[in-house]
Amino acid sequence: MNTPRIRFAEIHPELQRPEMWTSRAMKHPFFAWAGLRPLIAQHTAAEHHALEKYAQGRKSLVEIGVAEGASAVALRTAMSPEGTLYLVDPFHLSRVRTLNFLRRAARRVVSDKVGPKTAWIEAFSHEAVVAWNRPIDFLLIDGDHREEAVAQDWNDWRPHVMKDGIIAFHDARLFPGGWTSPEYGPVRFVDRAFRNNPSSSWEILEEVDSLVFVRKRERGNR
Ligand SMILES: C[S@@+](CC[C@H](N)C(=O)[O-])C[C@H]1O[C@@H](n2cnc3c(N)ncnc32)[C@H](O)[C@@H]1O
Repeated sequence: MNTPRIRFAEIHPELQRPEMWTSRAMKHPFFAWAGLRPLIAQHTAAEHHALEKYAQGRKSLVEIGVAEGASAVALRTAMSPEGTLYLVDPFHLSRVRTLNFLRRAARRVVSDKVGPKTAWIEAFSHEAVVAWNRPIDFLLIDGDHREEAVAQDWNDWRPHVMKDGIIAFHDARLFPGGWTSPEYGPVRFVDRAFRNNPSSSWEILEEVDSLVFVRKRERGNR
Protein backbone atom coordinates (compact mmCIF):
# COMPACT_ATOMS: atom_id res chain seq x y z
CA MET A 1 0.00 0.00 0.00
CA ASN A 2 1.42 3.43 -0.92
CA THR A 3 1.11 5.64 2.14
CA PRO A 4 -1.46 8.32 1.28
CA ARG A 5 -1.07 11.96 2.26
CA ILE A 6 -2.92 12.63 5.50
CA ARG A 7 -3.91 15.92 7.12
CA PHE A 8 -3.97 15.34 10.85
CA ALA A 9 -6.26 17.04 13.35
CA GLU A 10 -4.69 20.22 14.71
CA ILE A 11 -4.39 21.06 18.34
CA HIS A 12 -4.15 24.61 19.70
CA PRO A 13 -6.99 25.96 17.49
CA GLU A 14 -6.06 29.51 18.52
CA LEU A 15 -2.94 29.19 16.36
CA GLN A 16 -4.90 28.22 13.25
CA ARG A 17 -5.47 30.70 10.47
CA PRO A 18 -9.10 31.55 9.57
CA GLU A 19 -10.47 29.09 7.07
CA MET A 20 -11.24 30.26 3.50
CA TRP A 21 -14.58 29.12 2.03
CA THR A 22 -12.62 27.27 -0.66
CA SER A 23 -10.80 25.12 1.90
CA ARG A 24 -14.13 24.56 3.69
CA ALA A 25 -15.63 23.32 0.42
CA MET A 26 -12.59 21.11 -0.18
CA LYS A 27 -13.44 19.19 2.99
CA HIS A 28 -16.09 17.27 1.07
CA PRO A 29 -14.90 13.65 0.74
CA PHE A 30 -15.31 13.87 -3.04
CA PHE A 31 -11.97 15.73 -3.12
CA ALA A 32 -10.22 12.98 -1.13
CA TRP A 33 -11.70 10.31 -3.40
CA ALA A 34 -10.54 12.26 -6.48
CA GLY A 35 -7.04 12.58 -5.00
CA LEU A 36 -7.28 16.40 -5.00
CA ARG A 37 -6.52 16.79 -1.32
CA PRO A 38 -4.95 14.71 1.48
CA LEU A 39 -7.15 12.44 3.60
CA ILE A 40 -8.61 14.29 6.53
CA ALA A 41 -7.82 12.38 9.71
CA GLN A 42 -9.99 13.00 12.72
CA HIS A 43 -7.02 12.29 14.95
CA THR A 44 -3.63 13.91 15.61
CA ALA A 45 -0.25 12.79 14.28
CA ALA A 46 0.69 11.57 17.78
CA GLU A 47 -2.50 9.49 17.91
CA HIS A 48 -1.68 8.05 14.49
CA HIS A 49 1.73 6.90 15.72
CA ALA A 50 0.16 5.44 18.87
CA LEU A 51 -2.33 3.45 16.75
CA GLU A 52 0.58 2.10 14.72
CA LYS A 53 2.45 1.18 17.90
CA TYR A 54 -0.43 -0.84 19.38
CA ALA A 55 -1.46 -2.43 16.07
CA GLN A 56 2.10 -3.71 15.53
CA GLY A 57 2.04 -7.37 14.52
CA ARG A 58 -1.64 -7.87 15.45
CA LYS A 59 -3.74 -10.20 13.31
CA SER A 60 -7.42 -9.63 13.99
CA LEU A 61 -8.26 -5.95 14.26
CA VAL A 62 -11.66 -4.27 14.32
CA GLU A 63 -12.21 -0.57 13.77
CA ILE A 64 -15.63 0.87 14.62
CA GLY A 65 -15.96 4.21 12.77
CA VAL A 66 -13.85 4.51 9.63
CA ALA A 67 -14.75 7.88 8.00
CA GLU A 68 -12.18 8.64 5.26
CA GLY A 69 -9.99 5.76 6.43
CA ALA A 70 -7.02 7.62 7.96
CA SER A 71 -6.93 5.56 11.16
CA ALA A 72 -7.46 2.39 9.10
CA VAL A 73 -4.30 3.35 7.20
CA ALA A 74 -2.38 3.50 10.51
CA LEU A 75 -3.65 0.06 11.52
CA ARG A 76 -2.92 -1.54 8.14
CA THR A 77 0.56 -0.06 8.06
CA ALA A 78 1.60 -1.69 11.33
CA MET A 79 -0.45 -4.90 11.67
CA SER A 80 0.73 -8.35 10.61
CA PRO A 81 0.63 -8.79 6.81
CA GLU A 82 -1.11 -12.13 7.46
CA GLY A 83 -3.85 -10.47 9.48
CA THR A 84 -7.29 -9.07 8.69
CA LEU A 85 -8.59 -5.60 9.42
CA TYR A 86 -12.38 -5.49 9.85
CA LEU A 87 -13.82 -2.05 9.15
CA VAL A 88 -17.26 -1.35 10.59
CA ASP A 89 -19.09 1.78 9.42
CA PRO A 90 -22.57 2.18 7.92
CA PHE A 91 -21.47 5.29 5.96
CA HIS A 92 -24.98 6.55 6.59
CA LEU A 93 -24.28 10.29 6.70
CA SER A 94 -23.90 10.87 2.96
CA ARG A 95 -26.65 13.10 1.57
CA VAL A 96 -26.67 11.21 -1.73
CA ARG A 97 -26.44 7.58 -0.65
CA THR A 98 -25.81 6.25 -4.15
CA LEU A 99 -22.73 8.45 -4.57
CA ASN A 100 -21.45 8.23 -0.97
CA PHE A 101 -18.02 9.77 -1.48
CA LEU A 102 -17.03 9.14 2.14
CA ARG A 103 -17.32 5.41 1.53
CA ARG A 104 -15.61 5.72 -1.86
CA ALA A 105 -12.72 7.75 -0.39
CA ALA A 106 -12.19 5.17 2.38
CA ARG A 107 -12.38 2.24 -0.04
CA ARG A 108 -9.93 3.89 -2.38
CA VAL A 109 -7.33 4.53 0.29
CA VAL A 110 -7.71 1.23 2.13
CA SER A 111 -7.27 -1.00 -0.86
CA ASP A 112 -5.95 -4.45 -0.03
CA LYS A 113 -4.27 -5.43 -3.27
CA VAL A 114 -1.11 -5.91 -1.24
CA GLY A 115 -0.60 -6.49 2.47
CA PRO A 116 -3.16 -7.45 5.08
CA LYS A 117 -6.72 -8.38 4.17
CA THR A 118 -9.48 -5.85 4.69
CA ALA A 119 -13.07 -6.88 5.42
CA TRP A 120 -15.70 -4.16 5.08
CA ILE A 121 -18.77 -4.40 7.25
CA GLU A 122 -21.18 -1.66 6.22
CA ALA A 123 -23.43 -1.69 9.24
CA PHE A 124 -23.87 -0.04 12.62
CA SER A 125 -21.60 -1.66 15.19
CA HIS A 126 -24.54 -3.00 17.23
CA GLU A 127 -25.80 -4.77 14.08
CA ALA A 128 -22.37 -6.04 13.01
CA VAL A 129 -21.71 -7.68 16.37
CA VAL A 130 -24.77 -9.92 16.12
CA ALA A 131 -23.09 -12.28 13.64
CA TRP A 132 -19.56 -11.75 15.01
CA ASN A 133 -17.74 -14.93 16.13
CA ARG A 134 -13.98 -14.26 15.85
CA PRO A 135 -11.37 -13.43 18.46
CA ILE A 136 -10.10 -9.84 18.28
CA ASP A 137 -6.61 -8.71 19.32
CA PHE A 138 -7.09 -4.97 18.71
CA LEU A 139 -10.35 -3.01 18.83
CA LEU A 140 -10.70 0.71 18.10
CA ILE A 141 -13.96 2.31 19.25
CA ASP A 142 -14.53 5.53 17.26
CA GLY A 143 -18.11 5.30 15.94
CA ASP A 144 -21.18 6.73 17.67
CA HIS A 145 -19.81 9.06 20.36
CA ARG A 146 -22.86 9.21 22.64
CA GLU A 147 -21.95 7.83 26.08
CA GLU A 148 -24.59 5.08 25.92
CA ALA A 149 -23.39 4.07 22.43
CA VAL A 150 -19.76 3.86 23.60
CA ALA A 151 -20.93 1.73 26.54
CA GLN A 152 -22.84 -0.52 24.16
CA ASP A 153 -19.79 -0.97 21.90
CA TRP A 154 -17.75 -1.88 24.97
CA ASN A 155 -20.35 -4.37 26.23
CA ASP A 156 -21.04 -5.88 22.80
CA TRP A 157 -17.46 -6.24 21.52
CA ARG A 158 -15.32 -6.69 24.65
CA PRO A 159 -16.30 -10.38 25.10
CA HIS A 160 -14.61 -11.10 21.74
CA VAL A 161 -11.31 -9.47 22.72
CA MET A 162 -8.53 -11.91 23.53
CA LYS A 163 -6.78 -12.05 26.92
CA ASP A 164 -3.83 -9.94 25.79
CA GLY A 165 -5.92 -7.79 23.43
CA ILE A 166 -6.04 -4.01 23.42
CA ILE A 167 -9.10 -1.76 23.22
CA ALA A 168 -8.65 1.89 22.21
CA PHE A 169 -11.19 4.67 22.70
CA HIS A 170 -10.88 7.84 20.64
CA ASP A 171 -12.03 11.29 21.84
CA ALA A 172 -11.91 9.86 25.34
CA ARG A 173 -9.50 12.15 27.18
CA LEU A 174 -8.98 15.85 27.82
CA PHE A 175 -5.58 17.07 26.62
CA PRO A 176 -3.85 20.46 26.29
CA GLY A 177 -5.15 22.41 23.29
CA GLY A 178 -7.49 19.55 22.36
CA TRP A 179 -11.12 19.48 21.24
CA THR A 180 -12.61 17.17 23.85
CA SER A 181 -14.62 18.34 26.88
CA PRO A 182 -15.76 16.60 30.09
CA GLU A 183 -19.19 16.14 28.44
CA TYR A 184 -17.90 14.08 25.53
CA GLY A 185 -19.51 10.61 25.58
CA PRO A 186 -16.21 8.69 25.32
CA VAL A 187 -14.61 10.89 28.04
CA ARG A 188 -17.55 10.24 30.37
CA PHE A 189 -17.49 6.52 29.63
CA VAL A 190 -13.74 6.14 30.19
CA ASP A 191 -13.96 8.19 33.39
CA ARG A 192 -16.64 6.00 34.90
CA ALA A 193 -15.50 2.62 33.52
CA PHE A 194 -11.74 2.92 34.24
CA ARG A 195 -10.48 6.20 35.69
CA ASN A 196 -12.91 6.27 38.60
CA ASN A 197 -13.38 2.52 38.88
CA PRO A 198 -10.41 0.89 40.61
CA SER A 199 -12.28 -2.44 40.80
CA SER A 200 -12.50 -2.75 37.01
CA SER A 201 -10.85 -5.86 35.58
CA TRP A 202 -9.44 -3.60 32.83
CA GLU A 203 -6.85 -0.87 33.27
CA ILE A 204 -5.58 2.12 31.31
CA LEU A 205 -2.34 1.21 29.59
CA GLU A 206 -1.48 4.48 27.86
CA GLU A 207 -3.12 7.76 26.84
CA VAL A 208 -2.04 9.83 23.86
CA ASP A 209 -3.91 13.09 23.20
CA SER A 210 -7.57 11.97 23.14
CA LEU A 211 -6.80 8.26 22.68
CA VAL A 212 -7.03 5.88 25.62
CA PHE A 213 -5.68 2.32 25.38
CA VAL A 214 -6.95 -0.25 27.88
CA ARG A 215 -6.05 -3.88 28.57
CA LYS A 216 -7.20 -6.63 30.88
CA ARG A 217 -5.51 -6.56 34.28
CA GLU A 218 -3.23 -9.41 35.18
CA ARG A 219 -4.83 -11.57 37.88
CA GLY A 220 -3.98 -10.32 41.36
CA ASN A 221 -2.86 -6.93 39.98
CA ARG A 222 -5.96 -5.06 41.10
C1 LIG B 1 -15.07 10.16 14.18
S1 LIG B 1 -15.41 9.36 12.67
C2 LIG B 1 -14.15 8.13 12.59
C3 LIG B 1 -12.78 8.73 12.35
C4 LIG B 1 -11.70 7.76 11.96
N1 LIG B 1 -11.57 6.66 12.90
C5 LIG B 1 -10.37 8.51 11.88
O1 LIG B 1 -9.68 8.62 12.91
O2 LIG B 1 -10.02 9.02 10.81
C6 LIG B 1 -16.85 8.49 13.07
C7 LIG B 1 -17.36 7.49 12.03
O3 LIG B 1 -18.22 6.58 12.73
C8 LIG B 1 -19.28 6.19 11.92
N2 LIG B 1 -20.36 5.72 12.82
C9 LIG B 1 -21.28 6.44 13.47
N3 LIG B 1 -22.06 5.64 14.21
C10 LIG B 1 -21.58 4.37 14.04
C11 LIG B 1 -21.94 3.10 14.55
N4 LIG B 1 -22.97 2.95 15.40
N5 LIG B 1 -21.24 2.01 14.17
C12 LIG B 1 -20.19 2.14 13.31
N6 LIG B 1 -19.78 3.33 12.79
C13 LIG B 1 -20.48 4.43 13.16
C14 LIG B 1 -19.60 7.42 11.09
O4 LIG B 1 -20.22 7.03 9.87
C15 LIG B 1 -18.22 8.05 10.90
O5 LIG B 1 -17.65 7.68 9.65
